[in-house]
Amino acid sequence: MVERFLVLSALFGASLCSQPSALPPIAAPLRNLPWGQLNFLHTTDIHGWLGGHLQEHAYGADWGDYVSFAKHLHDKADAEGSDLLLVDTGDRIEGNGLYDASDPKGEYTFDIVKEQNIDLICSGNHELYKKNSSEGEYKQTVPNFSGNYLASNLDIYSPETGELVPLAPRYKKFKTKNQGIRILAFGFIFDFKDNANNTVVRTVEDTVKAEWFQDAIRDRDIDLVVVFGHVAIRSKEFSLIYKTIRSVQWDTPIQFFGGHTHIRDYKVYDGKSVALESGRYMETIGFMSISGLSSGGSKIRYPVSQTAGLSFSRRYIDNNLFSLHHHSGKDSDSFPTEHGRNVSRRIHAARKSLKLDMRHGCAPHGLWVNRVPYRHNLSIFTWLENHVLPDQLRQSSATENSEKAIVIMNTGAVRFDIFQGPFTKDTTYLVSPFTSGLRFVRNVPFEAAKQVMKLLNHEGPILDSIMGQNLVLAPPEQVAGRTDFDAPAEKHWLSASVLGPQIHLGDGQSLTPGYTTKDDAGDDGDDTLHAPISFYNVPNCIQAAVGFNMSHGNLSEVIMLDAEEPESVSLVYIDFIESWVLLALQYLGQKYNDSDTAPYMEGSTLTTIITDWVKENWNVRGESCP
Ligand SMILES: *[C@@H]1O[C@H](CO)[C@@H](O)[C@H](O)[C@H]1NC(C)=O
Ligand SMILES: *[C@@H]1O[C@H](CO)[C@@H](O)[C@H](O)[C@H]1NC(C)=O
Ligand SMILES: *[C@@H]1O[C@H](CO)[C@@H](O)[C@H](O)[C@H]1NC(C)=O
Ligand SMILES: *[C@@H]1O[C@H](CO)[C@@H](O)[C@H](O)[C@H]1NC(C)=O
Ligand SMILES: *[C@@H]1O[C@H](CO)[C@@H](O)[C@H](O)[C@H]1NC(C)=O
Ligand SMILES: *[C@@H]1O[C@H](CO)[C@@H](O)[C@H](O)[C@H]1NC(C)=O
Ligand SMILES: *[C@@H]1O[C@H](CO)[C@@H](O)[C@H](O)[C@H]1NC(C)=O
Ligand SMILES: *[C@@H]1O[C@H](CO)[C@@H](O)[C@H](O)[C@H]1NC(C)=O
Repeated sequence: MVERFLVLSALFGASLCSQPSALPPIAAPLRNLPWGQLNFLHTTDIHGWLGGHLQEHAYGADWGDYVSFAKHLHDKADAEGSDLLLVDTGDRIEGNGLYDASDPKGEYTFDIVKEQNIDLICSGNHELYKKNSSEGEYKQTVPNFSGNYLASNLDIYSPETGELVPLAPRYKKFKTKNQGIRILAFGFIFDFKDNANNTVVRTVEDTVKAEWFQDAIRDRDIDLVVVFGHVAIRSKEFSLIYKTIRSVQWDTPIQFFGGHTHIRDYKVYDGKSVALESGRYMETIGFMSISGLSSGGSKIRYPVSQTAGLSFSRRYIDNNLFSLHHHSGKDSDSFPTEHGRNVSRRIHAARKSLKLDMRHGCAPHGLWVNRVPYRHNLSIFTWLENHVLPDQLRQSSATENSEKAIVIMNTGAVRFDIFQGPFTKDTTYLVSPFTSGLRFVRNVPFEAAKQVMKLLNHEGPILDSIMGQNLVLAPPEQVAGRTDFDAPAEKHWLSASVLGPQIHLGDGQSLTPGYTTKDDAGDDGDDTLHAPISFYNVPNCIQAAVGFNMSHGNLSEVIMLDAEEPESVSLVYIDFIESWVLLALQYLGQKYNDSDTAPYMEGSTLTTIITDWVKENWNVRGESCP
C-alpha cells in the first residue's frame, strides 16, 4: 500500500527542525507503519551520528527529531491502548565528529543520547575497544538508563573497586504500560575478543549454560521473550540463543533485535519468532510490531475486535522529516516537541563548539566505499592507493627512512563515503574515526612483501588454514553475507545510501536512489520506495607503493611498472592488522615478530593522513564549494 504523493520530486519544505545545515528531505511514495498491539522503534550502530546526515536528503533528521517522533507514537499508543518500546543495540560511539572530536571523546554525546527514553539498551563492541569508553558506559550510560541497560554476557572491572562485576543487570522482566504484556528481556553482545582488558565478554555458548540463564528462561509467567543485542541476526550466537530458549519455551513468542553488520534485515526463525536488524548511522529507524500476544496482566484488549492469531510486521524508516511527519501524522508545525527542539539545539551547540563544520577542502566528486567496484576511479580505495597513501608517505618516507615502501591497510578502516562538496573536520571522522597508527618492518625482501596483501585477501591456497576461515577486515556491511549460518546461499544485499540514477515511473513520478531491502518477508520492508543502488564487495586489504611504481592488474599478481624490482622494502601497515601481517610474513618464510616492528610516521593515523592530503590537494579556501 503506497501513499499517493503529490509534490513530485519537490524538496519538502524548508528547515523544519533537524540541524540547520541539513538538506531537506525529498517527497517520496511511502508505505505506512503496520501498527499493532506491541510496537517497537529500533536503532543500532548509530556511531555518533546523532546530528543526522547533513549531506544526504534521505537521512537528515537528528536525535531531537527522533525524540519528538517517539513522543507522538507514545501518545498514539496511549490513546488506543497499545504499547510502544524503544530499543538500541549498541555501537553508539565512534564514527562521527560529535563523539570523536571532543577530548575526552564523547563529552557531549552521552548527555544527548540519554534524552531519548530507551527501554532496552546494551553495549556494542565499539564501546569496549578502549578502557575509557567502557568505563563511560559503566559510569554514565548504565545509570542514565537505569534498569533498561542489560548486559547478559558482559562484565567490567569496576573502576572503583577493581572487582569484576556485570556491566549492568543480566536480564529483566517487566510488564508493558497499557497492555500489561509480560516480557522477559536479555541484552547480548556477540563473541567479541578484541576488547580492552578491563571488560570480559562471556561467550554466548557459556552464557546460555549458566544457571541464571537456564532458570530465567523457564519462567512460565511471560507472554514474550525479547532478545536484543549487538549481534548479527544471522549469526551462530543468535541461533544458539534461539534454540536454547525454544527447547524450554516451545510456544512462547520470541522477538530478536540485532545489529553490528550495519544492514537492514529481517529473519524468520519460526512462526512465533523473528529478528530485526535496523541498519547503521541513524539512516534507519527500525519499526516492528507484534499483534495477537497474550497478556497475563491485560488491561485493555487489543484490537477490540481481536480474532486473528499471532502476527509480526516490520518496516525500515528512512530517517528524514518527510517520513517522520507522515508516520506520526504531524506537519512541520505540530511535529517538533519542545523536548525534541531542545535536543536538536544541544546537538547544534556541540557541533559548533567542536567546530565540526570547519572546512579542510572541497571534494570535487563523490568517492564510494561499496557503490562502485574496487579499482573504479570513484572508489575511495583506489583514491587512497593511487593518491593519498603514496603522496603522504612519500614525504615522510624520504625524510624518515629514505626507503621504498609498500603500505597495506584494511578496507574496514574506511567507514563512509565522501560526498562532493565541503570536506570538513566532521568528514574526517565519518570516513575514518580510528586512532590506530602506522607501524612497519624494515628491509623486508620484496619477493615476500609483495605477497602479503594477496594472503590477507584470501588469495593464497593455504591461507584459510593459517588465517582462519573468517578473517574479515573489510567493512561490516559486506561481512553480513559471510556469517549467515542458517541460510548461507542468499546474500541480503542492501544498498548503501543515496546517489545514482533516478527511476522514472511515468506520469512525471520518479524514485530517488536508496535502500531496496530484500529480507525473509519479501521486498516491501522499506518505508520509502527507492530506485536501487549497486553494492560491490571490496577486498580485505589494499596496498600502495611508495617511492617506486607498482600495479596489480588483479589481486593476485603484482606488476612492476619500473624497470627493476626493489630488493627490499619497508612493509608499512595499519597497527590494527599487525598480527595478521606478521602471520603472513611467517608463512612466506620471514620470521619477524613484534620486536621487529616500529612506529611509522609516529602520531599519524589514517584520519590525519587523509586530512593532510585534502588540505594540500582539495583546498579551495575562499572559493565557493557546492
Ligand atoms: C579518558 O577519560 C579521562 C577522564 O574523562 C580523560 O581525561 C582522558 O582524556 C580520556 N582519554 C582519552 C584517550 O580520551
Ligand atoms: C547520567 O549519569 C551521570 C553520571 O552518573 C549523572 O551525573 C547524571 O545526572 C545522569 N543523568 C540522568 C538523567 O540520570
Ligand atoms: C590490563 O593490562 C594492563 C597493561 O597492559 C595491566 O597493567 C593490567 O593489570 C591489566 N588488567 C587486567 C584486569 O588484567
Ligand atoms: C527546554 O529548554 C529550556 C531552556 O533550557 C528549558 O527551560 C525547558 O525546561 C526545556 N524543556 C524540555 C521539555 O526539555
Ligand atoms: C573516471 O573515468 C571516467 C572514464 O573512464 C572519466 O570520464 C572520468 O572523468 C573519471 N573521473 C575521475 C574523477 O577521474
Ligand atoms: C613512477 O612513474 C612516474 C610516471 O608514471 C614517474 O614520473 C616516476 O619517476 C616513477 N617513479 C619511480 C620511483 O620510478
Ligand atoms: C592475474 O594476472 C595474472 C598475470 O597477469 C594471470 O596469470 C592470472 O590468471 C590473473 N588471475 C585472474 C584471477 O584474473
Ligand atoms: C623475536 O625474534 C628474535 C629473533 O629474531 C628473538 O630473539 C626474540 O626472542 C623474539 N621475540 C619474541 C617475543 O618471540
